[in-house]
Amino acid sequence: MEFRIDKELIRSIVTLATVIEAKDPYTGGHTWRVSQYAIKLGEKIGLSEDELFIVHLGGLVHDIGKIGINDAILLKPGPLTDDEYDVMKQHPNIGLSLISSHPLFPILKDSVFLHHERFDGRGYPNKEIPPNLSRIAMITSIADAFDAMTSNRPYRNGMPVEKALLILEDEKGKQFDNDLTSVFIDLCINGDLDHILGHCGDDRLLMTCSQCGPIIAPTSKHGEGDHITCPACHGDYIMQRLEGNMKVEFSGNLDNAYVPLVDEDTVNSIVLNLPNQINLT
Ligand SMILES: [Fe+2]
Repeated sequence: MEFRIDKELIRSIVTLATVIEAKDPYTGGHTWRVSQYAIKLGEKIGLSEDELFIVHLGGLVHDIGKIGINDAILLKPGPLTDDEYDVMKQHPNIGLSLISSHPLFPILKDSVFLHHERFDGRGYPNKEIPPNLSRIAMITSIADAFDAMTSNRPYRNGMPVEKALLILEDEKGKQFDNDLTSVFIDLCINGDLDHILGHCGDDRLLMTCSQCGPIIAPTSKHGEGDHITCPACHGDYIMQRLEGNMKVEFSGNLDNAYVPLVDEDTVNSIVLNLPNQINLT
């Protein structure tokens, strides 16, 4: 089945996804990293251009259901209780209902609805297993889990890559597909993911908030001398260039208002190279 790609539809949904992510102070650049990890894995296993496009878009949009999660839970600066976690686990269902009548539903559904399913059928929300659990969903799942493990949160540091790889290895055939996981681990060991790890965009490093944790994600619009606000503690920082690299310097003000911004680079990363149509099998 041929599926026509409408550039403005793609732009609108990815724009929305970047603002939803910016509203969450603990996941700076998560969706960009997930999409890039997933593309790298997809390329290595020989996915078609059409499939790579679906993986890219799905990685950017997979957590769109978080728009329906109560801020007291979504923005909680600490581990969730069991009841709160049950609410958080609703986000794939919320995402599904959000996109169910959207024209892009056929190419978004796997990433949005299935990215927390497990290869062994013990995931959520539906305990799906292959073939219902598609390859695209399993690729997104590995990319999502690896980023969650290696990213910092205000209440805990991200784990070292080596430890995350051991967990991936241990979860082969359980949480994750065997073959896909092996390929992903090899990519990581070979350094093919180094430009993604700890970044929030092409050549954009995540910055460190000296007050609460390393979760400031500058957009490409943030240049030298610009102010940027930590989304978690609302600390005010000034962008500076030191020895060729951009850094942030705390201004001393902790009362800045935080406004989630569209990440136009991330939107453009997919909008500027769109296929006219793709084939859905
Ligand atoms: Fe998720």
